[in-house]
Amino acid sequence: MAGGVKIRKADDDDIKDLSAIGHASFRQAYEAWSHPDDLVAHLDAFFSEEAIRKEMQLPGHNYLIAMNDAVAAGFVKIRENTRPDEVPATRALELHQVYVMPEQQRCGIGGMLIEAAASFARDKAADGIWLSVWEYAPWAVNCYRKYGFDVVGTADFQLGRTVYTDLLMWRST
Ligand SMILES: CC(C)(COP(=O)(O)OP(=O)(O)OC[C@H]1O[C@@H](n2cnc3c(N)ncnc32)[C@H](O)[C@@H]1OP(=O)(O)O)[C@@H](O)C(=O)NCCC(=O)NCCS
Repeated sequence: MAGGVKIRKADDDDIKDLSAIGHASFRQAYEAWSHPDDLVAHLDAFFSEEAIRKEMQLPGHNYLIAMNDAVAAGFVKIRENTRPDEVPATRALELHQVYVMPEQQRCGIGGMLIEAAASFARDKAADGIWLSVWEYAPWAVNCYRKYGFDVVGTADFQLGRTVYTDLLMWRST
């Protein structure tokens, strides 16, 4: 288990680490399934330092980072006001990205990030958390099921030239 892990709100000083985590874990998970050009464009659009800096400044966009002692191990991005109709909790917040460094996975850090996001949501008087996840990503779908999420629908997700089907999942806070 991840004994020395602490989760806190991320700030400007964490952008380099957030970008490194996003690049490493997105590549590990999705490189085999995406066109190389689309992958690079996606990494640039969502995980470049510039993209993260911009997102951090948007209202309703919140990053929590997991530090394993001094090492940045993972993060979750939480968005407000994005709930799709399928999610039954009317004040649910979105876990838009949950990423853990490949070498730190399967030690409970993903679960800690999810619980920290639920706690963040409770502090905002939210009654649920929801997310979308590629239907063929068993590592992530299993993880979300393990921490109490259920499937409530599907949505399209476009990565470059390909449209994938995501599962919409939610749980109460
Ligand atoms: C999904 C992710 C955040 C989980 O983080 P984590 O730190 O490994 O999560 P935890 O250790 O708390 O939970 C582990 C559980 O997740 C599931 N899981 C994780 N990796 C798995 C794998 N390779 N195969 C199958 N199930 C897996 C299992 O249910 C596992 O529980 P178990 O070890 O008791 O079997 C991590 O795998 C990740 O960053 N993946 C790449 C990026 C990604 O796909 N993010 C989700 C986008 S929606």
